Formats: sequence, structure tokens, C-alpha cells
Amino acid sequence: MSDLLSKLRWRYATKKFDSAKAVPQEKVERILEAIRLTATSSGLQPYEVIVVNNPELRAQIQPHAWNQAQITEASHLLVFAAWDNYTAERINMMFDLVNEERGVRNEGWENYRQQLLNTYVPRDAETNYQHAARQAYIGLGTALIAAAEEEVDATPMEGFDPAKVDEILKLHERGLRSVVILPLGYRAAEGDWLVSLKKVRRSREDFVIEMK
Ligand SMILES: Cc1cc2nc3c(=O)[nH]c(=O)nc-3n(C[C@H](O)[C@H](O)[C@H](O)COP(=O)(O)O)c2cc1C
Repeated sequence: MSDLLSKLRWRYATKKFDSAKAVPQEKVERILEAIRLTATSSGLQPYEVIVVNNPELRAQIQPHAWNQAQITEASHLLVFAAWDNYTAERINMMFDLVNEERGVRNEGWENYRQQLLNTYVPRDAETNYQHAARQAYIGLGTALIAAAEEEVDATPMEGFDPAKVDEILKLHERGLRSVVILPLGYRAAEGDWLVSLKKVRRSREDFVIEMK
């Protein structure tokens, strides 16, 4: 079995973290870098990752997240927050950055910029947010794999009230909306009902459709 697959078998949605164990900063940085490097539609990276270190903010979030203990017991808490809308400013920021970094201007690329401006900017904010949120989920998937690679435990969570989290973290002021959150840490030696249960997945036969 490949090393990656064995780590993906090892990982699980951790229910109980050991609050005495902190994830070393270099591991957190590698997980964040993996998220930064992952793919997004048109390369817009239309979401941001918030590392919530403040214990008071985490305590405020917990009751609005089904009281899930991982929010406060994990070593780190990542919040994936998507752009609340696509604006011309945001789209141009990314296209300009690409031009600046590559040091070239290309007609095809500029046409593509216009196409996105013409398609996304007039669209309603909710449709644009939903599109951005889907990109944040790609980041979540990447984070889950990167955490497993680092042998760091993680719990993907959408069991929370996004409006409340937005309010607590003042995300509206940044033009962001929380999508999904990810506590990171180390599993507790005791008290996690899930840790010893078999990982259950649909069979390959059921899951993969081969069209010949
Ligand atoms: C988008 C998403 C949201 C989830 N929300 C929660 C959550 O709020 N609380 C929780 O304990 N687990 C949550 N889970 C964990 C899933 O239940 C878990 O990943 C799934 O049952 C597969 O099990 P495994 O990850 O342990 O292999 C979530 C998973 C995903 C991908």
C-alpha cells in the first residue's frame, strides 16, 4: 500500500483531541501551504483561511457548533471563509497578480479576464458565494490530506451556524462568509468513541462507474 493511502486509512474525523498536545508550527505551516497551493476555479483563490488562535473566540464559537468539544480542545482551529461575492476588484486583483508575477501580458489571458468579469460580476452575490464556497471545499480536502501526511489529526466540520461564526469573527467586514471549519491536533488517548471503529466506505465496485 502506498504511504499516502496508509495515511488516509489512518486519518479519521477526530472526536476527542488531547488539549495538552500542540501541533508544531512547522506542521501547521506545511498544511496551510498545501491549501495555498491547491487548485481553484480560474485560479481565483476566492477564499481565505483563518487560523483562530484566540481561546476566547473559540469558546464563543463552540455553542454555535453543536457544542462540539473539538472547537476548543484541538490545538489549532482553521476556518475556511469564502468571498461573499465576486467583484471586478477581486477578479482584477488576481489577473493583475498573475501578469505581475509572470511578467507578461497575453491576449488570451486578457480575453479570459473579460469573460469572467462579464459572467461573474453581474451575477447575484449568493450564486457567486456558492461558487467560491465550492473552491473552499477543495481547500478543505487538500488540508485533510496534508494533515494526514503530517500525522496530524483533523475534523472537517460543517456542523456550525455560519452566520454566528461570521459575527464572532467579524467576517462580514472582510467580505467573507465562513464555509467549513477544521480543528487540528492530536487524538486523545481515551474518550474518542470513533477511534477504534472500522473505517467504512462503499466498495470500489459501488463507487466507481467504469464506462467501456
Ligand atoms: C464537509 C464535512 C462536514 C463534516 N462535519 C462534521 C461535524 O460537524 N462534526 C464531526 O464530528 N464530523 C464532521 N464530519 C466528519 C464526517 O462525518 C466524516 O468525515 C465521515 O463520516 C467519514 O469518516 P472519517 O472522516 O472518520 O473517515 C464532516 C465531514 C465533512 C467532509
